[in-house]
Amino acid sequence: MFKDKQIVLGVTGGIAAYKSAELLRALVKQSAAVRVVMTDAACKFVSPLTFETLSGHTVLTDLFPDEMGGGTVHIDWARWSHLFVICPATANTIAKVAHGLADNALTTTLLASKAPVLFCPAMNKEMYLNRLYQENQKKLQALGYLFVTPDEGELACGETGWGRLAGLEEILDAISMALSTQKDLQGKRILVTAGPTHEPLDPVRFLGNRSSGKMGFALARRAALRGGSVTLISGPSEQRAFSGVELIKVNTAAEMAQAVFDRLKDQDVLIMSAAVADYTPEKVAKHKIKKNEDALLLHLRRTEDILAACAKDKGHRIHVGFSLETEHEVENSIKKIRDKKLDLMVLNNPLESGAGFAGDTNIVTLIDQQGTCDRLPKMSKLNASDRILDSVVALMKT
Ligand code: CTP
Repeated sequence: MFKDKQIVLGVTGGIAAYKSAELLRALVKQSAAVRVVMTDAACKFVSPLTFETLSGHTVLTDLFPDEMGGGTVHIDWARWSHLFVICPATANTIAKVAHGLADNALTTTLLASKAPVLFCPAMNKEMYLNRLYQENQKKLQALGYLFVTPDEGELACGETGWGRLAGLEEILDAISMALSTQKDLQGKRILVTAGPTHEPLDPVRFLGNRSSGKMGFALARRAALRGGSVTLISGPSEQRAFSGVELIKVNTAAEMAQAVFDRLKDQDVLIMSAAVADYTPEKVAKHKIKKNEDALLLHLRRTEDILAACAKDKGHRIHVGFSLETEHEVENSIKKIRDKKLDLMVLNNPLESGAGFAGDTNIVTLIDQQGTCDRLPKMSKLNASDRILDSVVALMKT
């Protein structure tokens, strides 16, 4: 994910400094080149050796490190970095940066850099809520510095409140966002659906399908990284939504339909990647259905076709459908494009190896209104999402 990205990780003196080692590991695992600069206080919490071992590079702790080329190393690092991540960021370091101070290796390197800066604050709740701290953060944000909001919860000092370092995934999401340069969906509102629906039979059973939600969650993530304002409506799924995405959870096809209809009006794009149930039990039993006969007959009725219903006042909105077919794939998909008035259909056959629900890859064919097919090779669902969004961007320009 962070291939060819050069990140300077600044570690300041808070108890959360040990969590920064986890962040470093995750960044290196995702192919980032990371150099670490630590304050004196940070070195009291965690040894520079930990960061040196994990980053594979000498850690900068001194403004005049003889062994690293003397007094200009901070300038070299400042020029080298694509992004500065200060994790954890104490109130003290944030205050220094807000006032342009450069009194240690970290603040001096940061002041000399043109790269974006992402602060991950972690501190006691009273410090975090202190007006002086809040003023400093506000000032930095107004200047374009980025912040990951800390979590609310139990703090190392035993108190409970705001100030706990944000979760690793959330910080990684913020780093992805800060490093993302492709912003061709900026200003666009995108509604994505994902996952299966569960149609209840009784209080303990439902009719469902094998959709994992991975494709829809990947689409939402990539659309947000490309600058879109994304709402993700998901059926039951284990996936974690990207931090910048508004997530709405539903269970049934009827709930998904309502959630889509409620939000459709101002959207520029609708991407229906959810595997919506076509049928739902006519009646939901109040109590658990007991076995008695040899066979049980279920009465099902059709659910509303969400995409078809949305076609009514479509206007300039781009509609993308997903077609899951195991035979006569292209023919059936073209019929769905016409029936549901789609701009683009994403066809996939779950019986193909490397395609379908549970895996991290997919093999999709993009079909446009004219029936032109573009069969893409097997690729990750994130890369497939980018290809789908490329087509959406192209459609918006026509
Ligand atoms: N879809 C929908 N509402 C439904 C069922 C499906 O909006 N009640 C959407 C899906 O999200 C998908 C597209 O319609 O984007 C095609 O779904 P698919 O199940 O492949 O096709 P169907 O039209 O339902 O036809 P069939 O099941 O007969 O293949």
